[in-house]
Amino acid sequence: MALRHNVLLFLCILHFANQWIPDTDFENATNWDKGSVPCGNDQVVFLAQRKVSVYVETAHTITGMSLPVDGELILASGAGFTVREGGDPGCGSGVTAHFKDSESMKWFDPTMWVAATTIDDLHRGTYQFSVHEESVPCQYDDVVFRETTSFRVDVSSDHDVPVKSVSVLGKKFTSSSEFSQYLTSNSGKLQFHGSSSLKVGGSGCDDITGCICGNSGNRDKICSNVKCDSLECKKPLHPVGHCCDVCSAVVNIQFSSSFNFESNRQRLQHLFLSQHKYESTQMAMSKVSKEQRLLRVIPFGATQEIQVLLLDQKTGQDAGKLAEARARDVVQDVHNHGLNIGISSAEFQASSGTSSSEAAGNNEGVVVCAVLGSLLGLGGTLDHGFDNPMFDKLTMMPEEPGLCHLESVQVALFLPVSSDESYMIFVLMSGRIFSVNIVIS
Ligand SMILES: *[C@@H]1O[C@H](CO)[C@@H](O)[C@H](O)[C@H]1NC(C)=O
Repeated sequence: MALRHNVLLFLCILHFANQWIPDTDFENATNWDKGSVPCGNDQVVFLAQRKVSVYVETAHTITGMSLPVDGELILASGAGFTVREGGDPGCGSGVTAHFKDSESMKWFDPTMWVAATTIDDLHRGTYQFSVHEESVPCQYDDVVFRETTSFRVDVSSDHDVPVKSVSVLGKKFTSSSEFSQYLTSNSGKLQFHGSSSLKVGGSGCDDITGCICGNSGNRDKICSNVKCDSLECKKPLHPVGHCCDVCSAVVNIQFSSSFNFESNRQRLQHLFLSQHKYESTQMAMSKVSKEQRLLRVIPFGATQEIQVLLLDQKTGQDAGKLAEARARDVVQDVHNHGLNIGISSAEFQASSGTSSSEAAGNNEGVVVCAVLGSLLGLGGTLDHGFDNPMFDKLTMMPEEPGLCHLESVQVALFLPVSSDESYMIFVLMSGRIFSVNIVIS
């Protein structure tokens, strides 16, 4: 009963609600070239050839207005315009106020979005930090355009852009056909433009261990909108899904099927939120696909893992130091609780050049286990066994067998084969030695 409750709870809130920041509201001063909302002595100009959908929330007095050829004003109840005769004493000498161009606002610009885990959090302004690829809505996300606003967004893409739902002017679209119909309406055409097709009706993420966002195919488009800072740290990191190298720390977590993405994210968040020193740090947690490399060089497949990116606001020499301290605490916490919460191992890297393997002695055993695990998991890769152990110089004992998940594997030996790019791996398992040859292609 308790478990069921848990699962349901987290199914509901997995992944994000992403909210579009800019608007095309009459009352938003940033939309006017003079930086203020036009008043009674002002002339209002919408460029004739610009398509725009403008939301007007209240009543205004103006001197006159030029309207666009193809555009609309959405008037909230009580909103409207009256032409003032005799001048508005509170409005200065009167100017011609141009509504700014909103043509260039791009869906794939990560700086145009904020994300939260629930709609309530969006309303409260409790936003989540995320890597650039996940700042743009993922296929599992609910997309929100604020209720009393209009907007214009360029959704250009070479392929469909799938999301779970889209809310516009307070109406939530979850069905593909209903939303397609909205896109052909006057408002729909003015609000969404560009060559792609935005598709709603996606399933949402129903894997409690988390889902891969799936925006890596849009990476170039997303990153072309991001300006990266210059960095001063020794070894800047390049987190998966992020457009910029950063002075930071990254924790990589290997998980099992009992791992619960959302509850772990909340756990890590709350664990450190309560600590004053980490107040200024940010955390972005994502499930990512990572290429596995044997001895850190030879690619042999991809696995999924959880990436925890930790950033701090420090600059110069101190950049990333606080993030590194928090990463150490995360890894320590995982070592204390990991098996209970579905985590089999965790390690961190920091831009100071430190990593958990250096910090906690030789970690090579874990790497070997990961390799062996993958090989044995494939099945049939081991070619033959020897009854008599032929090697007495055995290396790379896992320091913590518990992390290995291969209780029967006792020792493994790697031998580079000199003639070509290949390695022999010998494994002592249940008293027998197995060998496997790996060729680098
Ligand atoms: C006005 O627009 C700016 C930029 O698009 C946005 O950041 C801001 O939240 C808007 N202000 C209001 C009050 O909605």
